[in-house]
Amino acid sequence: MYKDQPARACGIDFGTSNSTVGWWRPGEDSLIALEDGKITLPSVVFFNLEERRPVYGRRALEEYLEGYEGRLMRSLKSLLGSKLLKSETTVLGSAMPFKQLLGLFIGELKQRAEAVAGRAFEQVVLGRPVFFVDDDPEADREAADTLVAVAKAIGFDEVSFQYEPIAAAFDYERGIDREELVLIVDIGGGTSDFSLIRLSPERRDHAERQDDILATGGVHIGGTDFDKQLSLRGVMPLFGYGSRMKSDAFMPTHYHLNLATWHTINTLYAQKTQLALKSMRYDIVDASGIDRLFRLIEQRAGHWLAMQVEQSKIDLTEADRLNLSLARIEEGLEVELTRDLFEAAIESLLGRVRDSVGDLLNKAGLTAAQVDTVFFTGGSSGVPALRRIIAELLPNARHLEGNTFGSIGSGLAIEAKKRYG
Ligand SMILES: Nc1ncnc2c1ncn2[C@@H]1O[C@H](COP(=O)(O)OP(=O)(O)OP(=O)(O)O)[C@@H](O)[C@H]1O
Ligand SMILES: [Mg+2]
Repeated sequence: MYKDQPARACGIDFGTSNSTVGWWRPGEDSLIALEDGKITLPSVVFFNLEERRPVYGRRALEEYLEGYEGRLMRSLKSLLGSKLLKSETTVLGSAMPFKQLLGLFIGELKQRAEAVAGRAFEQVVLGRPVFFVDDDPEADREAADTLVAVAKAIGFDEVSFQYEPIAAAFDYERGIDREELVLIVDIGGGTSDFSLIRLSPERRDHAERQDDILATGGVHIGGTDFDKQLSLRGVMPLFGYGSRMKSDAFMPTHYHLNLATWHTINTLYAQKTQLALKSMRYDIVDASGIDRLFRLIEQRAGHWLAMQVEQSKIDLTEADRLNLSLARIEEGLEVELTRDLFEAAIESLLGRVRDSVGDLLNKAGLTAAQVDTVFFTGGSSGVPALRRIIAELLPNARHLEGNTFGSIGSGLAIEAKKRYG
């Protein structure tokens, strides 16, 4: 397999939150440095209104936080398989189909990788979640087809897929010295993906691995869902979520649901929404929350708040509690967030992740005791409650951590070398 030659093709892990590009080379790490020497490019595009150009990754987040006017687009991958995909968004004053937006970002990945590699890539193995869309095979196929169309439109001639949790398995397999039955648990920003796979040093070189893959599965739950639940439970009540109306009914919930979801924050800024909220204000018993909401809207601070909530979630992986300062919105305002509150907020999501792993074992006809190793990867696999529920399911297996952000890209690089030479 020309093992002494660098691969002709690359692998792209286009993630909901972070992306990587892997390129297999003999004796070297596969992951290409995409930004400031780092192997990840955050999956973010910022359209800077003043300079009328898109910027990507960390630079995009910086420009946004520095207060440049413009639009910050995140979680682009979750548009695949959503109804929004067929629509357009307004960028720099003109309409841009979401597909084109995906092409801009993935094209940027290709260009950066090619600049570092000093060569063009014509073939690519794209990572994909086991399901782009839960329980809807047709929408799922459409999402995959869209991704292929986007990859071709930006100049790849040949495009193929590998499941993200299989790619992660190949990365782990590089370092093992005996046969193991492994459960791969990849919990990212948008999806939780699993594979049960037989790995060994001998199998590593087999071109065909279908027989080693005992089952794959997944569910559309990831870090962005955790952010939303933490926001609704811990932060949104300060902004009127759950307020009582004089009629004793609760205030309608969709405003706060939209505010806690990255893609829909902008709906709060629409004139129509503000008028509706203003007329509702007089029917609310305690208007202090909704008044804060008005301040947040006035300051266009919705995306800022969402970023604070995400950072708090990450900090709660290490800390039991923290104070989130909201002084930007109201002098002296802060809220205490605890890990207990976070875990309570995501309890039902965790239950669905656990059920999905349980189904996977059943599908493979395996008992928990037969699994030797659980290999965790993906940023959200750091959440302690997630580790705990998986440990409860598989108490006898070894639990290992991969390269949190790099395993999939490395595995895709191996796959690209195998498929395209
Ligand atoms: N220490 C941490 N504790 C909890 N969550 C974390 C931590 N570090 C990162 N995250 C979360 O991990 C997610 C990003 O992980 P990752 O980069 O693996 O996702 P992705 O590959 O882009 O998404 P996907 O594979 O679902 O498309 C984000 O939601 C981020 O908030
Ligand atoms: Mg991922």
